Amino acid sequence: MKRTTRTIAVDPHSIDMEIIREAAAVIKAGGLVAFPTETVYGLGASAMDERAVRSIFEAKGRPQDNPVIAHVDGLSGPCGAERAAREIPQLAVRLAEEFWPGPLTLVLPKAPEVPLATTGGLDTVAVRMPDHPVALALIKESGVPLAGPSANLSGKPSPTTAQHVERDLGGRIDMILDSGPTGIGVESTVVDVTGEAPVVLRPGGITLEDLRRVHPGARAFAARHLDPDSPPPSPGMKYTHYSPEADVVVVEGPRRAAVARMRSVVEELLASGKRVGVMALAEDAPAFDPAMGARWERPEAVVFKESGRNGDLVTVSSRLYRLLRELDDRGVDVIVVQGVDRIGLGVAIMNRLDKASGGNVIRVRDSGGQGR
Ligand code: TXA
Ligand code: MG
Repeated sequence: MKRTTRTIAVDPHSIDMEIIREAAAVIKAGGLVAFPTETVYGLGASAMDERAVRSIFEAKGRPQDNPVIAHVDGLSGPCGAERAAREIPQLAVRLAEEFWPGPLTLVLPKAPEVPLATTGGLDTVAVRMPDHPVALALIKESGVPLAGPSANLSGKPSPTTAQHVERDLGGRIDMILDSGPTGIGVESTVVDVTGEAPVVLRPGGITLEDLRRVHPGARAFAARHLDPDSPPPSPGMKYTHYSPEADVVVVEGPRRAAVARMRSVVEELLASGKRVGVMALAEDAPAFDPAMGARWERPEAVVFKESGRNGDLVTVSSRLYRLLRELDDRGVDVIVVQGVDRIGLGVAIMNRLDKASGGNVIRVRDSGGQGR
């Protein structure tokens, strides 16, 4: 359905409640409002309104069986987790007390009031309390948990600015609340808490190490346990997400070896006439950036983007989706990305890069050259 999309700036430090009330009125009437969170922008509708939730799927072009997260303002109350969940196990209470508001999504038994459209037909529901004053104000004013998948077209990188939302969903939704770029830049950690120990279904801003402080048995869901004949525990697992238009190649391993391999990959691509985007650490920019003296056969066909400083994973995650979109806008054919260590937030970053590249990840060792 064609809609007129209004983008309205909201200063998160001094929220104009008039705007929030207007946005909540749109939600109450079954409309769609994109809102900022600390991770990425979400596409909000009442999680309790089946028709509204269906229109989210339509606007995003999202498969119907991929459930959405219900955004809540805490554990209790009309906009709290208890409204969406049939019961809240003790483990979930402890995790919420430790990490909410924040990038932690808890998978709980679903309350009967939540339509199956919200949960993709599952009898569980995913809930999270975002750490963003505009999101929390909108939830409270709307009076219900807000269904909120990332506000991108299905399959595209998640939006970290209101302009990304406009590009993807302009004309398809009613309103965008623009509070500037988001902080963390990758989506929340999704954790199944229906069992004895937390199981991470999607890595994100809250790391496995963080979770183990609350429950030492916390573990990552192992993809090798996926049974091809039964539905995956988190339907999002089976879809390619986060993909830019360009092909993506990731090179991971010790820096020197990775830089050497990336250079040879880029050289080959240039030789075959491609335009190439490169995302690498600031320290390695001189090896790639023509503006810093890097030498290439066709320097005009190389676009360099700095992903962050070595070890500064927060910067790398906050820039990731924006840089993929910017490189797409520059019309490159292939994006060559330097990986990060798979520890802490690096697990989430590499999970998104695995998906963006469709598994096209080259692992190099110290000696350089040889893949594993
Ligand atoms: O940071 C975030 O989580 C962002 C912001 C807007 O809050 N939201 C977000 O939503 O990333 P979305 O819909 O793009 O991703 C939700 C993920 C999907 O992978 C989905 O399969 C999983 O959560 N999920 C939702 N409900 C689930 C459930 N009941 N059981 C298992 N996985 C679930
Ligand atoms: Mg998404």
